[in-house]
Amino acid sequence: MTRLQINNLFKQFVLHNKGDIIVEGFDNISFEVKEKEFISLEGPSGSGKSSVLKCIYGTYKTTDGKILYFKKDGSVTDIAAASESEILNLRKHEIGYVSQFLKILPRITAHEFVAEPLVEKGDFKQSALIRAAELLEYFGIKEKLFNLSPLTFSGGEQQRVNIAHGIIAPKNLLLLDEPTSALDSENSEKVLNKLTEIKNSGTSIIGIFHNKKIMQKISDKIYNLEDNAYAVSNQK
Ligand SMILES: Nc1ncnc2c1ncn2[C@@H]1O[C@H](COP(=O)(O)OP(=O)(O)OP(=O)(O)O)[C@@H](O)[C@H]1O
Ligand SMILES: [Mg+2]
Repeated sequence: MTRLQINNLFKQFVLHNKGDIIVEGFDNISFEVKEKEFISLEGPSGSGKSSVLKCIYGTYKTTDGKILYFKKDGSVTDIAAASESEILNLRKHEIGYVSQFLKILPRITAHEFVAEPLVEKGDFKQSALIRAAELLEYFGIKEKLFNLSPLTFSGGEQQRVNIAHGIIAPKNLLLLDEPTSALDSENSEKVLNKLTEIKNSGTSIIGIFHNKKIMQKISDKIYNLEDNAYAVSNQK
């Protein structure tokens, strides 16, 4: 079953405060993601990988094209034309996003930050905190750090906290922008195992990986943004 279908997507940025300079984000992107499928986006720096994820998550408006999201109940939303409230609703229940860098307010602890998506979804705070602790422990964050702000953590610790926050509430589509870029091989392995588990439970995943080996190992398909086509030789 198709989860997401992107048709001829096009994005340009018009920089109004710079004399309306136009910067091309990406052009003519078309791919689809099925239920339980892992697709990676590849292309050189600046080819628009992160921007595609931000358009799917509704952070960026698209210039042209469609982003069709198919819910399990059979209803379809074109994210490119969706209202703000439809997008917020999709984020709450359907689509998760792990940004490349942690963005967080200074006084929130790692433990609260990771538990937050479950609380937002309506779980009891106490059970959300228990689940968050399990996940932090799985990702090797020392218990001593749980009640501190992740802003003082190392790059790799921040990234693991960010991933834990992004995956704690089960979603049907998960967007990952270089989730393992700051991790050593042991922690990368843990993250990849967790992602495989999430995928096998039914989630569709779109990822960006700077490490080609990791990308090839985890992806069912790879879409190349320069060629506007699937990278056939990398297909499993
Ligand atoms: N908010 C923005 N305002 C203006 N231009 C932007 C914005 N976001 C992205 N761009 C431009 O869009 C293009 C694609 O950027 P994007 O970050 O999507 O590339 P990328 O493929 O993720 O690169 P990298 O591998 O370096 O992360 C770049 O030329 C960038 O300057
Ligand atoms: Mg990027």
